Amino acid sequence: MSKVIAIASQKGGVGKTTTAVNLSASFALAEKPTLLIDLDPQGCASVAYGITTDDSRRGVYELFTQRVPVSDISFKATIPMLDIVPCNIWSNTAEEQIIQSSKNRTVLARALEETGGAYDFVLLDCPPTLSHLTVAALAAADSVLIPVQGEFYSLKAFDAFMKLIRTIQIGINPSIDIEGFLFTMYNPRLRLSQRVRTELEEKFPNRVFKTVIPRNITLAEAPAYGVPAILYNANSKGAQAYLDLAHEIIKGERTRFAAAIR
Ligand SMILES: Nc1ncnc2c1ncn2[C@@H]1O[C@H](COP(=O)(O)OP(=O)(O)OP(=O)(O)O)[C@@H](O)[C@H]1O
Ligand SMILES: [Mg+2]
Repeated sequence: MSKVIAIASQKGGVGKTTTAVNLSASFALAEKPTLLIDLDPQGCASVAYGITTDDSRRGVYELFTQRVPVSDISFKATIPMLDIVPCNIWSNTAEEQIIQSSKNRTVLARALEETGGAYDFVLLDCPPTLSHLTVAALAAADSVLIPVQGEFYSLKAFDAFMKLIRTIQIGINPSIDIEGFLFTMYNPRLRLSQRVRTELEEKFPNRVFKTVIPRNITLAEAPAYGVPAILYNANSKGAQAYLDLAHEIIKGERTRFAAAIR
């Protein structure tokens, strides 16, 4: 069975796409077959994998509006064991059609079910707004990974997002879990970052990843070359941190599985 993780947050620019791109690469390198679905009309995750607008004549649009199977719209990444479905929503009309179709919240979940467990992990890169696509992702996901940029964090802004997750839990996806809060662009010397971390750990015990992602230039530069950080500078702190995160999640899965069969 695939584990479907939505990478989402109510805030823009917190590292959702950077996490989707580099975590998917890290899972694949750990020999876990992985699918990355780019649900942001900005298409940044696709671009970070070198998929051009010309390439993505098929993608999320066909998935939602024509129910085309994932196998017909996915691309093989440069890394083995990784497939990508690009976001190809280029006009307001296309966006409107997607919104209409994504109101039917089971479209994405059903498309993923039809992959028949071909992937160990499916990552959904969500847009920065709490849009229909974010709701569609949360409806289809087993869990949500929430990147947090400690420096600009505000508990209040965060409440709206937690409310949305609760609404999804009550209404359409009772089993959705919080995979974890991930500190991105982390600066341990900033007292505010440390305070935010402590606060989140108190509020959500065992739901804050031990791994933190440092602010690292390789993570910002690699997308311009159409590759994940690990292929651009494997020794960089950024690439290594995402490998650590992948291992932390894989280890968590093993522990959960062992507890379930005990
Ligand atoms: N750990 C990091 N170190 C340095 N730069 C980073 C890091 N993480 C992300 N960035 C940079 O910060 C910017 C925002 O990151 P990213 O696009 O991943 O955020 P996002 O949450 O997906 O944004 P949006 O809400 O617009 O989709 C990008 O320019 C990215 O390259
Ligand atoms: Mg993004």
